Order: sequence, then structure tokens, then C-alpha cells
Amino acid sequence: MALPESIQALDQTMSKRTVLTGITTTGRPHLGNYVGAIKPAIQASHKEGVQSFYFLADYHALIKCRDPQVIHHSTLEIAATWLALGLDTDQAIFYRQSDIPEISELTWLLTCITAKGLMNRAHAYKAAVQENIEVGEDPDSAIVMGLFSYPVLMAADILMFNATDVPVGRDQVQHLEMARDIGQRFNHHFGDHFVLPQAVVDDDVAVLPGRDGRKMSKSYNNTIPLWLPEKQLRKSIMKIVTNSLEPGEPKQTENSALFAIYAAFANPEQREEMKQAYADGIGWGAAKQQCFELINSEISSARLVYEELIGEPARIESCLQEGAARARAVAAPFMRQLRDAVGIRPLR
Ligand code: TRP
Repeated sequence: MALPESIQALDQTMSKRTVLTGITTTGRPHLGNYVGAIKPAIQASHKEGVQSFYFLADYHALIKCRDPQVIHHSTLEIAATWLALGLDTDQAIFYRQSDIPEISELTWLLTCITAKGLMNRAHAYKAAVQENIEVGEDPDSAIVMGLFSYPVLMAADILMFNATDVPVGRDQVQHLEMARDIGQRFNHHFGDHFVLPQAVVDDDVAVLPGRDGRKMSKSYNNTIPLWLPEKQLRKSIMKIVTNSLEPGEPKQTENSALFAIYAAFANPEQREEMKQAYADGIGWGAAKQQCFELINSEISSARLVYEELIGEPARIESCLQEGAARARAVAAPFMRQLRDAVGIRPLR
């Protein structure tokens, strides 16, 4: 028997998940970003019954980057990447953080109730202090308030849309705890306004190694950029570090960066076949060629779309504006409610 409609509706609101995540706009997307964050997020954007928010965190980018050209161009590249890879922008709300003035406004309300001691404990800030101490500098040398207050801005990003689930990397889990802490404190003072978010860290998603076997990261200079032209992509894959075993000699898949990169793109069957090929002594050159072919076949049609989009920034901009309008339709009335709650309201 079908449930009465009102109960169905209630059930839906109770189980309604809101997924939100931000992408800092510094640097160009690489295969590690693709496998670890972009691909799972885009797959999730097609799920029904979930409202997702994906945004370009350009205010966060300013904390580390003072090159306007890099900020600007990276915004273009990252937006084009998500669109080219098929982000469902009918379902997901895709916007640029700086297009939502309510986020800055909320940041201040939250800043006024956030304990300084909480921020003192943030890993990123503490690491910067530690580095200064180690080289004998003043502990606060070159540390900007943006870095110190970064978790408050991130809490505003999340609480603004009452996100329930926030997919992030391990390094961001502490920021989610802080967002909960800040949201709870606001609720305690001003009434129940915020849903408390939880971090979603997917252990199944591979942390992709870079060409040298360490985690693929811009800071290690070991990345394989996602949108290299075909020839250069092949070249970059050929540079993945292997060992001196000759063709015909059996090879280990454990601790092989090449195998891990291949496996991140392969289906279970292909993975098994490659394992066997390693045991049978496939040459490194041949294994790299197969790795290139597999990756290229997955991204080559999106690459065409990407190149087209990059040439038409106005199209990307209007897509972001559409997303911003949808995001503000949520943020603006909520912000009025929050202003009212803290006592900022018309004198009528
Ligand atoms: N700080 C995040 C990172 O470096 C990016 C980010 C900004 C974010 N705001 C967010 C992620 C809100 C999740 C939710 O990866």
C-alpha cells in the first residue's frame, strides 16, 4: 500500500541530502584531480534525489596566489573541465564563490562567533608557524589573515547551503569539524539555523601516485596534466618512473606507480589482465603504451569539448551566471533570516 502523500513528502525531506564541495582555482587540473575528485563528483551529479552544489573557490585561491592571471585563467580551465566532463548542470548548481556576496557576509557573522583558539589549532596554519620556527623566523612571518581565517570562509561556503555531505580529501576533514563547531555555536546563540555537515571521505577512490610514485600533486611537480594534447600526454606517461627490469622479467604491481595509474582507469578485467602481463614480464615501454591508450580513450572525446569551451569563455561565463542565480535564490533569503536572527534588521 502506498504511503499517504504527506508522509512521503516528510520522508523525502528527512532523507534529502545536500552535497556540496569547492574546488580551489589555482593550477591546472591533472589526472589526480580527475580520478580523486572530479570524476566521482560528476557521477554523483547525475543521481536523483540529491541536490548538489559545486563551486569554484576563488576566494580560497587568493590565500595562496597573488597572480591575477593565474587566478583568472585557472577559473576558466577548471570550469571548462567540469563542463567538458559532463557535469549535469540541470541538476547540480555550479557557481563561482565570489558571485555569491552572501558568502562573504555570512563569513563575517561566523567570524564574530568563532573562537580564535579554534583557528589556532588548524593544521594548515600550524604547519606554516612550524616552518617559520624551524628556520628561526618570527612565528607569524608572512602568515596572512586569510590563511588564519580560512576555516571560517569554508564554514560559510558549507553552512550557507545547509549542506549535509561534503566530499573532501583527508586533509580537509579538520575543516569540516570546524564548520560543525562554528555552525553549532551559531545555533546555540541564535537558534537552529544551520544543518551540521559531515565530511565524506571515500576510501575507495584512489589517491593517484604521480610520475615519481609520491602522491600526484602540483607541489611535487610530478603531475600529468589532464588536458595535454595526445602526443604530450603519451610523452608524460612515458616519463613515469619504473625500474631497470628488462622485458621478459616478471614485474611487481605493488609499489608500481605505472600500475596504480593504469588501475585507476581500468575495469576489473583489464586490471587482472595487466596484473598477469606484469607477472609474464611485459616490457615497461609496452605497459606505458597501454596505459596511455586506456587514459586517452577515456578522455579524448571530452578533450575536444574542453578545447571548444576554452575558446568560448562567454559560454562558460553564462553557465556560471545561471548557477549563481540559482545559488543566490537559496542564499539571499537565508541570509535575510540570519541577519534578522543576529539583530540586523530594518527599524520598523
Ligand atoms: N579548501 C578546499 C580544498 O582546498 C576547497 C574548498 C573551499 C571546499 N570551500 C569548500 C571544499 C567547501 C568543500 C567545501 O580542497
